Amino acid sequence: MKIAIDGPAGAGKSTLARELAKIMGFIYIDTGAMYRAITWKVIRENIDIDNETAVRDLAEKTRIHFEINSQTQKIICDHEDITSVIRSPQVGDLVSRVALFPLVREILVKQQQEMARNNSVVMDGRDIGEIVLPDADFKFFLTAEIEERARRRTEEFNQAGYSVTADSIRDDLNRRDKSDYQRPVGALKVLEDSIIIDTTDLTVAEVLKRMLAIIRGE
Ligand code: CDP
Repeated sequence: MKIAIDGPAGAGKSTLARELAKIMGFIYIDTGAMYRAITWKVIRENIDIDNETAVRDLAEKTRIHFEINSQTQKIICDHEDITSVIRSPQVGDLVSRVALFPLVREILVKQQQEMARNNSVVMDGRDIGEIVLPDADFKFFLTAEIEERARRRTEEFNQAGYSVTADSIRDDLNRRDKSDYQRPVGALKVLEDSIIIDTTDLTVAEVLKRMLAIIRGE
Protein backbone atom coordinates (compact mmCIF):
# COMPACT_ATOMS: atom_id res chain seq x y z
CA MET A 1 0.00 0.00 0.00
CA LYS A 2 1.17 3.53 -0.72
CA ILE A 3 -0.03 6.52 1.29
CA ALA A 4 0.87 10.02 0.07
CA ILE A 5 0.73 13.06 2.36
CA ASP A 6 1.23 16.50 0.85
CA GLY A 7 0.74 19.97 2.27
CA PRO A 8 2.45 23.18 3.38
CA ALA A 9 5.01 23.45 6.19
CA GLY A 10 3.67 23.08 9.71
CA ALA A 11 0.43 21.38 8.69
CA GLY A 12 1.44 18.27 10.64
CA LYS A 13 2.57 16.03 7.79
CA SER A 14 5.69 14.52 9.31
CA THR A 15 4.15 13.85 12.72
CA LEU A 16 1.11 12.22 11.16
CA ALA A 17 3.13 10.30 8.58
CA ARG A 18 5.40 8.90 11.30
CA GLU A 19 2.49 7.86 13.53
CA LEU A 20 0.56 6.37 10.65
CA ALA A 21 3.58 4.37 9.47
CA LYS A 22 4.13 3.03 12.98
CA ILE A 23 0.53 1.87 13.33
CA MET A 24 0.33 0.36 9.85
CA GLY A 25 3.80 -1.22 10.02
CA PHE A 26 4.88 0.70 6.92
CA ILE A 27 8.09 2.53 6.12
CA TYR A 28 8.02 6.32 6.54
CA ILE A 29 9.83 8.32 3.87
CA ASP A 30 10.36 12.00 4.65
CA THR A 31 11.08 13.50 1.21
CA GLY A 32 11.51 17.02 2.63
CA ALA A 33 14.51 15.68 4.56
CA MET A 34 16.11 14.74 1.24
CA TYR A 35 15.75 18.29 -0.17
CA ARG A 36 17.07 19.55 3.16
CA ALA A 37 20.06 17.18 2.94
CA ILE A 38 21.08 18.60 -0.44
CA THR A 39 20.58 22.15 0.87
CA TRP A 40 22.74 21.42 3.91
CA LYS A 41 25.49 20.13 1.62
CA VAL A 42 25.20 23.17 -0.66
CA ILE A 43 25.85 25.36 2.39
CA ARG A 44 28.67 23.23 3.73
CA GLU A 45 30.48 22.93 0.41
CA ASN A 46 29.94 26.59 -0.44
CA ILE A 47 28.18 25.80 -3.72
CA ASP A 48 26.43 28.65 -5.53
CA ILE A 49 22.78 27.98 -4.62
CA ASP A 50 21.53 29.69 -7.79
CA ASN A 51 23.61 27.50 -10.08
CA GLU A 52 21.29 24.63 -11.07
CA THR A 53 24.00 22.54 -12.75
CA ALA A 54 26.30 22.77 -9.75
CA VAL A 55 23.50 21.81 -7.35
CA ARG A 56 22.42 18.97 -9.67
CA ASP A 57 26.00 17.63 -9.76
CA LEU A 58 26.12 17.75 -5.99
CA ALA A 59 22.78 15.90 -5.71
CA GLU A 60 23.97 13.27 -8.14
CA LYS A 61 27.01 12.34 -6.08
CA THR A 62 25.20 12.47 -2.72
CA ARG A 63 24.04 9.23 -1.13
CA ILE A 64 21.01 9.65 1.12
CA HIS A 65 19.32 6.90 3.06
CA PHE A 66 17.05 6.45 6.03
CA GLU A 67 18.18 4.28 8.93
CA ILE A 68 15.16 2.90 10.66
CA ASN A 69 14.95 1.11 14.00
CA SER A 70 11.99 0.53 16.26
CA GLN A 71 12.02 3.93 17.97
CA THR A 72 13.81 6.45 15.79
CA GLN A 73 14.56 7.22 12.19
CA LYS A 74 17.82 8.81 11.15
CA ILE A 75 18.76 10.40 7.86
CA ILE A 76 22.24 9.48 6.73
CA CYS A 77 24.04 11.49 4.07
CA ASP A 78 27.29 10.00 2.76
CA HIS A 79 27.73 8.02 6.04
CA GLU A 80 27.05 11.10 8.21
CA ASP A 81 24.05 11.38 10.53
CA ILE A 82 22.42 14.70 9.57
CA THR A 83 19.05 14.17 11.29
CA SER A 84 19.32 17.28 13.50
CA VAL A 85 21.43 19.65 11.40
CA ILE A 86 18.97 19.69 8.49
CA ARG A 87 16.29 21.15 10.80
CA SER A 88 18.18 24.41 11.34
CA PRO A 89 16.46 27.71 10.44
CA GLN A 90 19.27 28.35 7.91
CA VAL A 91 18.47 25.17 5.95
CA GLY A 92 14.74 25.97 6.21
CA ASP A 93 15.39 29.41 4.75
CA LEU A 94 17.18 28.07 1.67
CA VAL A 95 15.58 24.70 0.94
CA SER A 96 12.84 25.95 -1.38
CA ARG A 97 15.48 27.45 -3.68
CA VAL A 98 17.09 24.05 -4.11
CA ALA A 99 13.67 22.40 -4.52
CA LEU A 100 12.94 24.78 -7.39
CA PHE A 101 15.41 23.06 -9.73
CA PRO A 102 13.82 20.44 -12.04
CA LEU A 103 17.19 18.68 -12.47
CA VAL A 104 17.51 18.21 -8.71
CA ARG A 105 13.89 17.09 -8.37
CA GLU A 106 14.39 14.50 -11.09
CA ILE A 107 17.22 12.86 -9.13
CA LEU A 108 15.39 12.85 -5.80
CA VAL A 109 12.05 11.74 -7.24
CA LYS A 110 13.76 8.71 -8.81
CA GLN A 111 15.34 7.79 -5.48
CA GLN A 112 12.00 8.19 -3.69
CA GLN A 113 10.23 5.95 -6.20
CA GLU A 114 12.98 3.37 -5.80
CA MET A 115 12.56 3.43 -1.99
CA ALA A 116 8.83 2.80 -2.40
CA ARG A 117 9.10 0.15 -5.10
CA ASN A 118 8.91 -3.02 -3.00
CA ASN A 119 7.57 -1.58 0.23
CA SER A 120 4.38 -0.37 1.78
CA VAL A 121 5.11 3.26 2.54
CA VAL A 122 3.81 6.48 3.98
CA MET A 123 5.55 9.30 2.13
CA ASP A 124 5.20 13.01 2.84
CA GLY A 125 6.22 16.06 0.83
CA ARG A 126 4.80 18.42 -1.77
CA ASP A 127 4.58 16.47 -5.03
CA ILE A 128 3.99 12.94 -3.74
CA GLY A 129 0.40 12.44 -4.92
CA GLU A 130 1.02 14.00 -8.31
CA ILE A 131 4.59 13.04 -9.29
CA VAL A 132 6.26 10.55 -6.96
CA LEU A 133 3.37 8.15 -6.25
CA PRO A 134 0.59 9.02 -8.71
CA ASP A 135 -0.94 5.56 -8.07
CA ALA A 136 -1.00 5.98 -4.28
CA ASP A 137 -3.94 4.27 -2.56
CA PHE A 138 -4.64 7.39 -0.50
CA LYS A 139 -3.60 10.98 -1.15
CA PHE A 140 -3.98 13.17 1.89
CA PHE A 141 -3.60 16.93 1.73
CA LEU A 142 -2.98 18.33 5.20
CA THR A 143 -3.31 22.03 5.73
CA ALA A 144 -3.78 24.57 8.54
CA GLU A 145 -4.07 28.31 8.93
CA ILE A 146 -0.80 30.21 8.68
CA GLU A 147 -0.93 31.56 12.26
CA GLU A 148 -1.27 28.06 13.67
CA ARG A 149 1.44 26.64 11.43
CA ALA A 150 3.80 29.44 12.46
CA ARG A 151 2.97 28.83 16.13
CA ARG A 152 3.78 25.11 15.83
CA ARG A 153 7.03 25.71 13.97
CA THR A 154 8.18 28.41 16.43
CA GLU A 155 7.56 26.01 19.32
CA GLU A 156 9.55 23.27 17.57
CA PHE A 157 12.49 25.60 16.98
CA ASN A 158 12.44 26.89 20.53
CA GLN A 159 12.35 23.35 21.89
CA ALA A 160 15.31 22.45 19.70
CA GLY A 161 17.27 25.36 21.23
CA TYR A 162 17.03 27.89 18.37
CA SER A 163 15.80 31.29 19.41
CA VAL A 164 13.39 32.49 16.74
CA THR A 165 10.42 34.81 16.73
CA ALA A 166 6.95 33.90 15.51
CA ASP A 167 7.11 36.83 13.08
CA SER A 168 10.27 35.64 11.35
CA ILE A 169 8.91 32.10 11.14
CA ARG A 170 5.63 33.33 9.65
CA ASP A 171 7.59 35.25 7.02
CA ASP A 172 9.68 32.19 6.23
CA LEU A 173 6.62 29.95 5.90
CA ASN A 174 4.86 32.47 3.66
CA ARG A 175 7.89 32.76 1.40
CA ARG A 176 8.33 28.98 1.24
CA ASP A 177 4.59 28.37 0.62
CA LYS A 178 4.64 30.85 -2.25
CA SER A 179 7.61 29.17 -3.88
CA ASP A 180 6.22 25.65 -3.23
CA TYR A 181 2.79 26.48 -4.72
CA GLN A 182 4.11 28.40 -7.71
CA ARG A 183 7.15 26.54 -9.04
CA PRO A 184 6.73 25.14 -12.56
CA VAL A 185 7.78 21.55 -11.69
CA GLY A 186 6.63 19.59 -8.63
CA ALA A 187 4.41 22.32 -7.23
CA LEU A 188 2.25 21.75 -4.19
CA LYS A 189 -1.38 21.48 -5.24
CA VAL A 190 -4.70 19.97 -4.26
CA LEU A 191 -5.46 17.12 -6.68
CA GLU A 192 -8.77 15.80 -7.90
CA ASP A 193 -8.36 12.76 -5.64
CA SER A 194 -6.86 14.61 -2.64
CA ILE A 195 -8.44 14.00 0.74
CA ILE A 196 -8.18 17.40 2.42
CA ILE A 197 -7.86 17.67 6.19
CA ASP A 198 -7.59 21.07 7.88
CA THR A 199 -5.65 20.43 11.11
CA THR A 200 -5.92 23.98 12.54
CA ASP A 201 -8.24 23.01 15.39
CA LEU A 202 -7.45 19.31 15.62
CA THR A 203 -5.03 17.43 17.87
CA VAL A 204 -2.59 14.92 16.40
CA ALA A 205 -4.74 12.11 17.81
CA GLU A 206 -7.85 13.51 16.13
CA VAL A 207 -6.18 13.82 12.74
CA LEU A 208 -4.73 10.33 13.08
CA LYS A 209 -8.17 8.93 13.90
CA ARG A 210 -9.67 10.54 10.79
CA MET A 211 -6.90 9.27 8.55
CA LEU A 212 -7.14 5.73 9.92
CA ALA A 213 -10.93 5.71 9.50
CA ILE A 214 -10.53 6.69 5.85
CA ILE A 215 -7.81 4.11 5.20
CA ARG A 216 -9.82 1.37 6.91
CA GLY A 217 -12.98 2.40 5.09
CA GLU A 218 -14.96 3.03 8.30
O1 CDP B 1 8.80 20.24 7.54
P1 CDP B 1 8.53 21.30 6.53
O2 CDP B 1 7.18 21.20 5.95
O3 CDP B 1 8.96 22.64 6.97
O4 CDP B 1 9.45 21.10 5.33
P2 CDP B 1 9.91 19.77 4.65
O5 CDP B 1 8.79 18.82 4.46
O6 CDP B 1 11.13 19.29 5.35
O7 CDP B 1 10.30 20.34 3.20
C1 CDP B 1 11.20 21.39 3.07
C2 CDP B 1 11.09 21.98 1.68
O8 CDP B 1 11.51 21.00 0.72
C3 CDP B 1 9.70 22.40 1.23
O9 CDP B 1 9.40 23.71 1.58
C4 CDP B 1 9.79 22.26 -0.29
O10 CDP B 1 10.33 23.41 -0.86
C5 CDP B 1 10.78 21.12 -0.47
N1 CDP B 1 10.14 19.85 -0.79
C6 CDP B 1 9.77 19.62 -2.10
O11 CDP B 1 9.95 20.50 -2.94
N2 CDP B 1 9.22 18.45 -2.48
C7 CDP B 1 9.01 17.47 -1.59
N3 CDP B 1 8.50 16.30 -1.98
C8 CDP B 1 9.35 17.69 -0.24
C9 CDP B 1 9.89 18.90 0.14
